[in-house]
Amino acid sequence: MNKTGTQKIETPRLILRRFKAEDAEEMFNNWASDPEVTRFLTWQPHSGLEVTESILTEWISRYEDGGYFNWVMEYKQSGSVIGNISVVRLYEDIEAADIGYCMSRSFWGQGLMSEALRGVMDYLFDVVGLNRVAACHDVNNPRSGRVMEKAGMIQEGILKAAGKNNLGIHDVVWHAMIRKERDIIRNK
Ligand SMILES: CC(C)(COP(=O)(O)OP(=O)(O)OC[C@H]1O[C@@H](n2cnc3c(N)ncnc32)[C@H](O)[C@@H]1OP(=O)(O)O)[C@@H](O)C(=O)NCCC(=O)NCCS
Repeated sequence: MNKTGTQKIETPRLILRRFKAEDAEEMFNNWASDPEVTRFLTWQPHSGLEVTESILTEWISRYEDGGYFNWVMEYKQSGSVIGNISVVRLYEDIEAADIGYCMSRSFWGQGLMSEALRGVMDYLFDVVGLNRVAACHDVNNPRSGRVMEKAGMIQEGILKAAGKNNLGIHDVVWHAMIRKERDIIRNK
């Protein structure tokens, strides 16, 4: 595994880059304070800008670690920051990662998260050298499952009552892609 950390990734409509302290206000206004966005997540909407600022200070301090992968999604057309995609768990021994993501409600339904996920998976397979990239969602959040499928992941199974988010305990659907599977799709 190459510990290259959070490097810039470009997709057709997005730039995925490291967070900067100046992103706090847009992050707070665009998604971190919105209870609709955090419905199926494990953290509460931020109650004030100072909460977002303090989290960004912590995240930014971790960018020196090459095993830390956490991108802000910048929308090329306007330059605004609209969401977040990151590795929520890294398994160095098996060269695998679990991904998590969330985005401003006003940008939902345009295929942007699938585009970001494809970009992140390519980076993790090709640059970091991982073999497996996975993600999971609450069974009641099928929109997120579609993102995973559209990015090429395949559903692996449903674990009963195995997760807890702001709505309580829920069944968890797992999706994943192995590097070999991505290579087959790419060479078609
Ligand atoms: C989940 C989330 C990232 C999706 O991002 P997005 O950019 O809107 O996703 P996309 O546009 O790429 O794809 C959404 C797909 O879900 C489909 N969809 C929407 N509502 C759906 C529903 N109720 N059931 C099934 N599919 C649904 C859309 O039709 C679309 O698929 P299509 O392109 O085949 O039509 C975004 O809604 C979000 O940030 N939600 C809040 C945070 C969150 O839940 N994160 C995931 C935690 S696991």
